[in-house]
Amino acid sequence: MAQDVIGVIGGSGLYEMEGMTGIEQVTVDTPFGRPSDDYITGTLDGVPVVFLPRHGKGHRLTPSEVNYRANIYGMKKLGVTRIISVSAVGSLREEIVPGHIVVPDQFIDRTKGIRKDTFFGNGIVGHVQFADPVCRELSDHLFAAATAQGATVHRGGTYVCMEGPAFSTRAESHLYRSFGASVIGMTNLTEAKLAREAEICYGVIALSTDYDCWHEGHDEVSVESVIAIIKSNVAMAKGIIRAAVQRIGGERTCPCASALQYAVISDTGVIPV
Ligand code: ADE
Repeated sequence: MAQDVIGVIGGSGLYEMEGMTGIEQVTVDTPFGRPSDDYITGTLDGVPVVFLPRHGKGHRLTPSEVNYRANIYGMKKLGVTRIISVSAVGSLREEIVPGHIVVPDQFIDRTKGIRKDTFFGNGIVGHVQFADPVCRELSDHLFAAATAQGATVHRGGTYVCMEGPAFSTRAESHLYRSFGASVIGMTNLTEAKLAREAEICYGVIALSTDYDCWHEGHDEVSVESVIAIIKSNVAMAKGIIRAAVQRIGGERTCPCASALQYAVISDTGVIPV
């Protein structure tokens, strides 16, 4: 059996993965266009890893401009079976202090429908199950790895995925809190949907960088505040990834691996790779 390949999608502030050896820069073309950047393939402490900076090197792409389909398709083409996705989020809960890690297990979609978030269409119709949008097993490993690295980690929680690029209004921020949501970001739900359709396990390491704009005792979110927290936590995020890849592996018994088996699909329903 081929060795598992773990994909890492780096968010704001995580544009490379130190410690990888035998690295190659791989350009992947896809039927959906170009991914955000070249993929970096190699091994991390002996584990095959494929790294991709979500916004491209130098952070060139807004959340709406990221070609999510190409990014996930490229991962699939490179043999990735599990994706660890790292991103910065705003906290919607007092107890999720900036600097804490969240491993969310639910999403609310507040994107505007302008993103291409499915591989289906053009004659192939499919509806995958998405009640549990992240891989439970993978998320368990991410939680354990983050805890072992000494991070303060919150297991579970709902991630509001907004379109951006502007941050929320105060009224929106309070609305999302009233939904019971935990964190807010701009990218992870779109990736999670496509990963499910591609039968790739998907889990999130979300770094809380700010209290958005609902918290009276804290300044409203700014790019500067987000970057400052990312900078002081990027080493920890990398440590968590390194610890996580050692835990993950082996045959997948989770439903993600056979998501299309239970999807309602017309025609052959096969995503061509
Ligand atoms: N990423 C980091 N902080 C954020 C916030 N407050 N809203 C949306 N995305 C974010």
